[in-house]
Amino acid sequence: MALVTILDENKTITDPGAVAAFLIRNGIDYEHWTAAHPVAPDAPPEEILEAYAKEIEELKARGGYVTADVIDVRPETPGLEAMLAKFSSEHWHDEDEVRFIIAGHGLFHIHTRDGQVIAIQVEAGDLIRVPRGTWHWFNLCADRRIRAIRLFQDTAGWTPLYTESGVDQRFLPVCFSESRAI
Ligand SMILES: [Fe+2]
Repeated sequence: MALVTILDENKTITDPGAVAAFLIRNGIDYEHWTAAHPVAPDAPPEEILEAYAKEIEELKARGGYVTADVIDVRPETPGLEAMLAKFSSEHWHDEDEVRFIIAGHGLFHIHTRDGQVIAIQVEAGDLIRVPRGTWHWFNLCADRRIRAIRLFQDTAGWTPLYTESGVDQRFLPVCFSESRAI
């Protein structure tokens, strides 16, 4: 389940119902999905998409998404740091950012229009929808691994548009489990 931290208040929400309710109040859709049938996290993309076909079709109908694919990022992925650097500064897209996590972890920071910064740590089973125009940035966790289904309304809208606000510099990209371990 996702974990949410409200950074300026140093408050963390761990209860699944409270996480979803808090995120929805802040414009971020969050769901937890279970596969229609068991599927290995390293199964071929077609099997992953098939196992979650019902949820994907529902989401497509709701959000106007036309394509879905599976992204696979591993520590050994060529050009990983350059790829991550594109998304670790505050930006927005002209496209919703929709991710359903199959394996690994990720850390989204959301900067709301009222100035609050929220960290959302996602893991397998979590669906997050960051609406188009939302200021946000993304980092991997220590496992440097994420496999996720992505949904697109228009892949041309996926380019990051940077705010250049520098707000992202105020927050360490440290995942919850790691900060607790220190
Ligand atoms: Fe993004």
